[in-house]
Amino acid sequence: MKTTVADLEFKLIIDAEEIKTRVDAIAGALNAEYAGKKPLVVGVLNGCFIFMADLVRQMNMPCEVAFTKVASYHGGMKTTWQLRNDLDLAVDIEGRDVILLEDISDTGNTLSFLIEDLKQRNPASLIVCALLVKPAAQQYHIAELKYVGFEIEDKFVVGYGLDYKEQGRNLNGIYQLVV
Ligand code: XMP
Ligand code: MG
Repeated sequence: MKTTVADLEFKLIIDAEEIKTRVDAIAGALNAEYAGKKPLVVGVLNGCFIFMADLVRQMNMPCEVAFTKVASYHGGMKTTWQLRNDLDLAVDIEGRDVILLEDISDTGNTLSFLIEDLKQRNPASLIVCALLVKPAAQQYHIAELKYVGFEIEDKFVVGYGLDYKEQGRNLNGIYQLVV
């Protein structure tokens, strides 16, 4: 299935049903890992918002949510390497079990930056869940990356929270740029 987002054509690569199955499986693993604990789920805006909404609603322990925002793309399709902290975490994470949620890890630059920043705030534990990872683009080894929804090709994608020129976030599947 194809769709146009802004001025470009994209094709469906992961449909809503596949995403739900995978997100539910990750939630199941988190339910086992954090049973009896009270984790703090930290989402990286804007891209995490749909993934986070679906994931936390399948989590069965008392969990809290918080957000941060780091931008690297500034509207384009390639990372600029220049990270900008647009929204700092508003909660103290010292001693907390933190689960960091990211929509996609491309080079790994954003996650590395965030992990370093969060670690300095002394959480009791820190793991990362990323809905998508592009293994061929990764330039960092991210030891904290424990749960990955899908490994995808090194091609630009939109949908399920991810955007191209701020559009396409509301698509219910993941769509890849047609080149
Ligand atoms: P890095 O390279 O820092 O990139 O791992 C991660 C951030 O870049 C954005 N990103 C994308 N956004 N489609 C998008 O809509 C993509 O294919 C894509 N690849 C990376 C995303 O914001 C992520 O946080
Ligand atoms: Mg974006």
